[in-house]
Amino acid sequence: MTFSALSHLECPRCGATHDADQIIGLCPCGSPLLARYDVPALRKEDLASRAPDLWRYHELLPVRSPENVVTLGEGMTPLLPLPRYGAELGVDRLLMKDEGLIPTGTFKARGAAVGVSRAYEVGVRKIAMPTNGNAGSAWAAYAARAGMEALIAMPIAAPEICRREVTAVGARLQLIDGLIGDAAAYIRSLIQEQPGYFDASTLKEPYRIEGKKTMGLEIAEQLNWQLPDVIVYPTGGGVGIIGIWKALNELRDLGWIEGPLPRLVAVQSTGCAPIVRAWEKGLPESEPWPDAKTVAFGITVPKALGDFLVLQAIAETNGCAVAVDDEDLLAELHQVAQLEGSFICPEGAANFAAIRQLRESGWIRAGEQVVALNTGAGLKYPETVPPLPDLR
Ligand SMILES: Cc1ncc(COP(=O)(O)O)c(C=O)c1O
Ligand SMILES: [Zn+2]
Repeated sequence: MTFSALSHLECPRCGATHDADQIIGLCPCGSPLLARYDVPALRKEDLASRAPDLWRYHELLPVRSPENVVTLGEGMTPLLPLPRYGAELGVDRLLMKDEGLIPTGTFKARGAAVGVSRAYEVGVRKIAMPTNGNAGSAWAAYAARAGMEALIAMPIAAPEICRREVTAVGARLQLIDGLIGDAAAYIRSLIQEQPGYFDASTLKEPYRIEGKKTMGLEIAEQLNWQLPDVIVYPTGGGVGIIGIWKALNELRDLGWIEGPLPRLVAVQSTGCAPIVRAWEKGLPESEPWPDAKTVAFGITVPKALGDFLVLQAIAETNGCAVAVDDEDLLAELHQVAQLEGSFICPEGAANFAAIRQLRESGWIRAGEQVVALNTGAGLKYPETVPPLPDLR
C-alpha cells in the first residue's frame, strides 16, 4: 500500500489544480493551496497497531516516502476532561486537548514536522519564515533535525523563549521592530535578494496545514469517532481551525464519521479581532486590524491570508467567532491552573473566556460536549504569573 494517498493540490478560490510534486507556494491567483487525497483503502482498525504520533495517519499526510519523515515524536496529545473547572463554567462535558505536551511546547510542532518533511522531500534545503514566535521555534527545530538551514524573522515583542529556542538549534534569527506582517515583508525582500530560500510563511506553502489538521483527526479518534458538539480554537493565521475542518471533512469522505460536524468557534482577542469583525459584519474576508495588541501574542495577526477559509469553516459548521478581553483570558488561565493543575498558554486561555461567554448567552447549551484546544504550554509564558513573593 502507498504511504501517502496525496493526489494533487487544489485552489479553494479559483478551483485550479496543481501538481503536488514540485516546489510550490501560492496559487497564481494569490490563494493558499490545499492538498487533496485519493480516498485510501484504510480502515479504522488499521490504526490500532500504529505508534501514538501524528504519522499514524500517514495515508492522509503528504509525505510520500517514510525515509523523508522528520520527527521528534509529535502528536497524540492528551484529551483531558476538566470536571472541576467545567462545573464552574456550567459546561459539564468540557475537554481540553493539551498541545503543551508536544516537542517545542506548542501545536506548531505538527505543522513544522509535516511542512519540513514535505519541503525536504520536494528538494527544499533552505527555509525562511516570519513568525509570532512559536512557529519559528518549531520550524527551526525540525529544520535542524532535517539538516536544513532556517532563517526566522520574529517581532521583538514575541515571547523571549522563542528567540532562545531558535538560536539554540542553530537557525538565523532576525528580530523585527513591528508585527508579523512587517516580519513577512522582511522575508519577502530577503528572498528576492538572496534566492535559494523557500518561503515557509503561514499558508504560503501547502503542507503546514496538513500537520495541523492532525489535531482534528486525533480528537475524532480519541472520542472513538463520536464527534463533540463544539470545538473552540484560538485563531491567529487560522491554520489550526481550517486544518481541523479539513480533517473532519476528510474523515467524512472516508465514511468514518457521520452526522453534522462540530460547531467550530474562532476565538480572537478584542485587541486584534479582524476575523470576528468580518464575521459580525457578514463579510467574506477580513480587513486589516489597526494597532493590534494582546497578551495572547500568537493570535496577534492583523490580516490572515486564510481568513476567508476560517469564515467559511465557521459558517458551514454553524459555528461563530468571538472576541475576548486580555483581562478575562488571564483570569481563566489562573482558574484552569488552580482548579485543574494545568498551566496553559494565554492563547489557550482565550478559548475558556469565549466558552464562558457562549455558555452565558446560551449559544453553548447545557449538556453539550465542548473541546478546547490549549495550543501551548504555559511554561513558555512565565510572565503571565504574578511576581513571586520574596520567600527568603
Ligand atoms: C500558542 C498559539 N496559539 C494559537 C496560535 C494561532 O494559530 P493559527 O495560525 O493556527 O490560527 C499561535 C500562532 O502563533 C500560537 O503560537
Ligand atoms: Zn487559485
